[in-house]
Amino acid sequence: MAELKVELGERSYRIVIGSDILDKIGEQAKGLGFSRRIGLISNPTVYGLYGKAVEDSLKYAGFNVITVLIPDGEEYKNLTWASNIYGELLKLRLDRASALIALGGGVIGDITGFVASTYMRGISFVQVPTTLLAQVDSSVGGKTGVNHPLGKNMIGTFYQPGLVWADIDTLKTLPRRELLAGMAEVIKYGVIWDRELFEFLEKNMDSILTLAPLPLIHIIKRSCEIKAEVVSKDERETGLRAILNFGHTIGHAVETVTGYTAYLHGEAVAIGMNIEARLSALLNLLSSADVDRIKSLLTLYGLPYELPVGIGKDNMLSAMKIDKKALAGEMRFVLPEKIGSVKLEKVSADKVSEVLR
Ligand code: NAD
Ligand code: GLY
Repeated sequence: MAELKVELGERSYRIVIGSDILDKIGEQAKGLGFSRRIGLISNPTVYGLYGKAVEDSLKYAGFNVITVLIPDGEEYKNLTWASNIYGELLKLRLDRASALIALGGGVIGDITGFVASTYMRGISFVQVPTTLLAQVDSSVGGKTGVNHPLGKNMIGTFYQPGLVWADIDTLKTLPRRELLAGMAEVIKYGVIWDRELFEFLEKNMDSILTLAPLPLIHIIKRSCEIKAEVVSKDERETGLRAILNFGHTIGHAVETVTGYTAYLHGEAVAIGMNIEARLSALLNLLSSADVDRIKSLLTLYGLPYELPVGIGKDNMLSAMKIDKKALAGEMRFVLPEKIGSVKLEKVSADKVSEVLR
């Protein structure tokens, strides 16, 4: 088991990562001083696998558990389903001292955090992440939110959980494609912050992907430590936190032009990281040897790294809101200078255009 802390003054909280710890969530929640009525938010997929263990643990610790399920899928991370959750919580009389438990991946974590931050002007919540992406990224740092028809994650709050409780055993049931997509975010931490983590990923692919506990806990803990350090320095993304978006500028454009159906978020970020590394080399910031190393690591973890065939440069530029007239303009990118270090750099739109060619 590993434990670390996100240092944010009186809003600091623990992240605990371990094997076979799901049924200890009740006693942990008890220690946080919530009232007896507690809301468990999940979806039928995750609830079917882990709901009973979590409910039993909470009941055993003395809680009266109110379970609210929303359908499985990104398309349900919206205000309609947030409102449905509010309705259930109100009907079942959760009060201001009640708390919510988010049991699931990033979709459940984001919507639960959003509801917790707004229900009765804010109640506590606990993240119990069950995807690799959620364990290394979305459950940590307090970005909550829902999608709007006009844009993904456009409605949201900064609101920190009271605890993150990550059981690596839940990853045993995660589809392999989802596991690999989560690895893209782990690779991201290696590139932006930690050369040793990057090298560890290069050397330990087999044991990581077979979910051997020690290397798995190591990479999840290291990812959370990096995110915790960045978030504690810049919670509201006025500067440093933007480095967590390495690979995301191109990645988001890939998601947009492919209609959010062809790629999982982590896969699009993998493509983004390769192209943004090449952009960095084009600007003479990164060696071509390091570009190759990043591409090789993405390949090792079975991730895509090239733009899909048929996706034109112009579509990508317009998804990044660069039209032809604005080609003289500039955009900000997170660019690696070497493995383990990045900087925020203004890039002219014609260089972006050149790397997409
Ligand atoms: P997800 O929550 O949709 O989960 C992926 C799939 O795996 C779902 O079908 C889910 O039901 C299933 N699943 C979850 N755990 C499982 C398990 N243990 N076994 C079997 N199946 C399981 O996707 P995700 O990748 O976890 O999260 C993506 C979301 O996270 C997006 O909405 C994205 O915007 C958000 N996000 C938020 C942040 C943040 O900082 N708040 C950061 C990154 C991503
Ligand atoms: N996923 C990026 C962030 O939390 O800032």
